[in-house]
Amino acid sequence: MKFVSRTIPQSGGYYTRDWIDMKKKYLYIETFGCQMNVHDSEQMAALLAGVGYQLTENSEQADLILINGCSIRAKAEQKAFSELGRLIKLKEQNPRLIVGFGGCLAQHLGKKVFSRMPALDLVFGTHNIHRLPEMIAAVQKERKKIKHTDFSTKITSLNIFAPPPEGSICAFVSIMQGCDNYCAYCVVPYLRGPEMSRTPEDIIGEIKKLTKLGVKEVTLLGQNVNSYGKKLDHGCNFVSLIKKINKIDGIERIRFTTSHPKDLSDELIACFADVPKLCEHIHLPVQSGSNHVLKLMNRGYSVEDYSEKIKRLRSVCPQISITSDIIVGFPGETKKDYQETIDLMETIRFDLLFSFKYSERKGTAAQKLQDDVPETVKRQRLEDLQALQDMHAQEKNSALEGSVQEVLVEGQSKNSEKDMMGRTRSWKIVNFKGGPELIGRQVDIKITKGQLHSLRGKIEET
Ligand code: 5AD
Ligand code: SF4
Repeated sequence: MKFVSRTIPQSGGYYTRDWIDMKKKYLYIETFGCQMNVHDSEQMAALLAGVGYQLTENSEQADLILINGCSIRAKAEQKAFSELGRLIKLKEQNPRLIVGFGGCLAQHLGKKVFSRMPALDLVFGTHNIHRLPEMIAAVQKERKKIKHTDFSTKITSLNIFAPPPEGSICAFVSIMQGCDNYCAYCVVPYLRGPEMSRTPEDIIGEIKKLTKLGVKEVTLLGQNVNSYGKKLDHGCNFVSLIKKINKIDGIERIRFTTSHPKDLSDELIACFADVPKLCEHIHLPVQSGSNHVLKLMNRGYSVEDYSEKIKRLRSVCPQISITSDIIVGFPGETKKDYQETIDLMETIRFDLLFSFKYSERKGTAAQKLQDDVPETVKRQRLEDLQALQDMHAQEKNSALEGSVQEVLVEGQSKNSEKDMMGRTRSWKIVNFKGGPELIGRQVDIKITKGQLHSLRGKIEET
């Protein structure tokens, strides 16, 4: 995923500028991976804006190039390295160019990245983002290689205020970092460290700042937001946090991601009926429809527990949309296990699904199991599952035809200059004819066509 270039207001405050040359300098960032990584890149850009770096979309213009890599699956790791290999060649024409490799992939690999890419200047982990200006100054002054991938016991990086792109209506807000769940396939707990929550005061302060910039919708980010506050000693859990955010003037919509099914409480389910600004959508990764596989994955719930939670969500909030993640080809997944995943999909009918082939990751518990599902079988299972999901998504979107949906208008549509784009409360993209004066407004849209990945509609005249 490319990090979109934009003007970032000077963040200031974190570092004094006296040791850094304040002539105009350009920063090019390339981001791979999830919303967490995108948000990490926004924080890098905000911090570096404070010491004079302006974003560019042209890597050849850059004085500093940062690759924010993802290591969740082997494919993502390969992509980040091939991009790094391509960009690092720019040092041949511009010897003053500094190239850094950061994020959870760098945290994972540490100084091994230097042996793979000797021309690299800087390697930094997710816990060290706040030290970026200091690291870059050291590379500039001492012309030596810098590596900071140690874990911190504080959450300094999370408290960096990263303004979203100018004119944004929606913004991400990290409320915690790390994960204590140790799902057998997942490398995240080893990369992002133990779970740590930000204080409600810091989060609310950040959201209030965002409202001043015109933001109307916030998505609260964490690996498992349901366990927010567990280690804080002032009794604020995720539900009380949502209720506090609901009271902030200027915020019209609240979303969150990701939730772990085992920690989804009845109290949180009730919020979908009781908290007016909480949007009717939940991303609840199930990973598999087989109890045998879920046990091997160390997920801590059964298919029956998961189905029961979906039932409760739908009884409290019938219009809620449900999205999920599924892994196919986990070690030991038999044909019967796979069929049970398909059966679960048929029963639940997800609005949207992110599906992956199992990818063995070093250091995880699953690495000790034999990766015994052949690649061709994994590929076929993924293809069949995605074809079924397409049918379900189409069915869900077609069912909305004729309904009137409240759409928060985010900007121009990618499809056509004459169209605007926004999302329903249930997180579905809607394209419709309209002008830029609608950006930031909630508009009633009558859905005329449900397509596979989006809806088409027209403004409902009142
Ligand atoms: N292989 C395949 N998919 C994975 N995910 C996490 N780790 C792996 C892995 N080793 C998927 C899970 C998770 C999503 C973010 O990525 O489905 O929910
Ligand atoms: Fe990984 Fe499981 Fe933590 Fe999600 S909950 S980040 S899948 S270990």
